[in-house]
Amino acid sequence: MQYPTVHTKLAVLLGNPLEHTLSPVMHNHVFKKLDMDCIYFPVEVTAENLKTVFSGLTRMNMLGFNVTMPHKMNIISLLDDIDPLTAAIGAVNTICLERGRTKGYNTDGEGFVTAIEQDLKQSVAQKKVFILGCGGAARSIAMTLASKGCEKIFLCNRTISKAEALSADINKVFEDCSSVVPRELPPMGEVLPACDLLINTTSIGMHPYADNMPLDESLLFKGLAVADIVYNPLETLLLKAANKIGCSVVNGLGMLVYQGAKAFKLWTGVDPPVHEMFEVLQSVIASPHG
Ligand code: ATR
Repeated sequence: MQYPTVHTKLAVLLGNPLEHTLSPVMHNHVFKKLDMDCIYFPVEVTAENLKTVFSGLTRMNMLGFNVTMPHKMNIISLLDDIDPLTAAIGAVNTICLERGRTKGYNTDGEGFVTAIEQDLKQSVAQKKVFILGCGGAARSIAMTLASKGCEKIFLCNRTISKAEALSADINKVFEDCSSVVPRELPPMGEVLPACDLLINTTSIGMHPYADNMPLDESLLFKGLAVADIVYNPLETLLLKAANKIGCSVVNGLGMLVYQGAKAFKLWTGVDPPVHEMFEVLQSVIASPHG
């Protein structure tokens, strides 16, 4: 297929900075594989220009949008509609155009849960989960886990007020589902042994700080599943330590792939070939410039 043409549909990623985004390579690879006349490209936009750029783009031949930092929350006021769970999360990463109206979704949490359920081959329902970090990613993951019937979600963050705010937001929608755990050894050590799954949503362990651990290694135990949303490196120090003692581990690549796959499905109605998405991302991450 020769493209772009005037018929080519556009999928645009809005964010800033976008230098290191892997979404264009993932989505464009799938468009090509499926011979779809669509193109995905990143547009760096400042907060000041977001409204003008978004408004202009919606008048073009759009397939849809992805939204990333720092616009995931600010974009909501520019949308016509929002999916209910996304409204509870308070952040949008995917936008569809439905009969001329813009509708916001969040596929990050769903993407994470799919990755976990695929890798661990079990449902997250009834599980007790311990989440390190309370930023944007944790918010999507925690709210989605609660919506899937997790029994308890413990939140632990350097800035405890952010954990308290997220916990209160979760409990407003899912009564008594969440509690805050102070980021010190004794309280963490009292709560973690009863948990099924530990999730690192902080950037600790991510390149160029790959030598750091988000918690004391002595807190890990066999029988705890350990997930990291960091995908660069694919095996963080946390996952290495967990692996060594026999924990099931889940790296951050699955969340990246499945959030993209769910966005793709929302825009096109088509289930993309996820194995192709994994393969292309693995090759980019393994390359010297990945
Ligand atoms: P994301 O969208 O990926 O979640 P974010 O919203 O910037 O990114 O959140 C980053 C998370 O990592 C926060 O929970 C942050 O803790 P604070 O809320 O205290 O800032 C956590 N984090 C980042 N660097 C950290 C560090 N060196 N030690 C502890 N926590 C850290």
